[in-house]
Amino acid sequence: MAGDLNCEDKGDFEHFMIKEIFAGPKALRQTLNGRIKDNKIIFSGLNFEIKNINKIFIAGCGTAYHAGLVGRKAIEELTGLQVEIDLASEFAYRRVLWQAGDLLIVISQSGETADTLAALYKAKQAGIPVLAILNVPGSTMARWADAVIYTQAGPEISIASTKVYLTQLMALYLLALYLAQERGTLSEAELNTYIKSITTIDQKVEKALALQPTVKEIAGYYRDTDNAFFLGRGYDYPVAMEGALKLKETSYVHAEAYAAGELKHGSIALLNGDVLVIGLVSQDALAEKTMSNIDEIKSRGAQTIVICKESLQKYCQEYEKVIIIPDTEPWLAPLVTVVPLQLFAYYMAVFRGTEVDNPRHLTKAVTVE
Ligand code: AGP
Repeated sequence: MAGDLNCEDKGDFEHFMIKEIFAGPKALRQTLNGRIKDNKIIFSGLNFEIKNINKIFIAGCGTAYHAGLVGRKAIEELTGLQVEIDLASEFAYRRVLWQAGDLLIVISQSGETADTLAALYKAKQAGIPVLAILNVPGSTMARWADAVIYTQAGPEISIASTKVYLTQLMALYLLALYLAQERGTLSEAELNTYIKSITTIDQKVEKALALQPTVKEIAGYYRDTDNAFFLGRGYDYPVAMEGALKLKETSYVHAEAYAAGELKHGSIALLNGDVLVIGLVSQDALAEKTMSNIDEIKSRGAQTIVICKESLQKYCQEYEKVIIIPDTEPWLAPLVTVVPLQLFAYYMAVFRGTEVDNPRHLTKAVTVE
């Protein structure tokens, strides 16, 4: 059972968090298992009419919300369906203009988060079908949802979610592909290309994990930082949000994420030599623009770390602290880009001597609104 420390042990790892970061590739394989056969995506338990869906709503909290932001982009790009996403705590109490053909997707590791449950109940009251992406079987959300996709990550003990985030992304990518397949929005050749890349993505995550010593050294260097900004564009932006959340909750470092192009609209005034800026550069079409934003920041004296995809290295040659991540198709990049951010948050927490697996004021499942 998730959260039951008696059932799990840390093995050779010092903390559950690092053990779970390293369990990412296996968790991804488990989530994929049985979902692809003969180049077709299989989702047997989705008992609502896929072809009749007109619009999708997504709700979740914290890391689950960040996964949803990536999922929204993937579903919109692959299927052309309109997707709205909200923090569950806001969704539950806003006026939603439901229409026939709407579907709500709730995302939750525990399946017990009160805010996400409130969003689920709201849809149920309106007669809207709910699909839940969950990690814990038999949870309250599993009982109320019309259909469930389990993320198969196994128990996650560390309060900071790491391997489950990867599997939430995997579930959403698979769902996007399934919707595209069933609604015919991708050609067979396109579908095959997407399927091929998703079935080998675990190997790229493994490669990113090999960056551990580099990330540890960089975290050691910045251990006394009190303010960090995470920047990205496109798919990199929700990953920046996840990186900032991970750093806040594990290391108690003030961290914010910005869409790279937005910083200049006000927040750039906060920059000085004491601020650490972590820029994500994994999106081919957006790399040049993101780097120009990071250059601007560097010229304001902020310290910078660039996390850059191998094939985009030419953009960050002038940077001292660069973490090179394996090449990945832009839509799948979040699975790889997040790995150094999880490792960074972990080592920052270790160096700062915080309660890595049980950060102050937090619980694994937040059951109050
Ligand atoms: C993640 O590191 C956090 N501990 C937190 O944001 C978490 O993702 C959030 O509370 C949602 O929990 P759930 O997935 O169990 O619903």
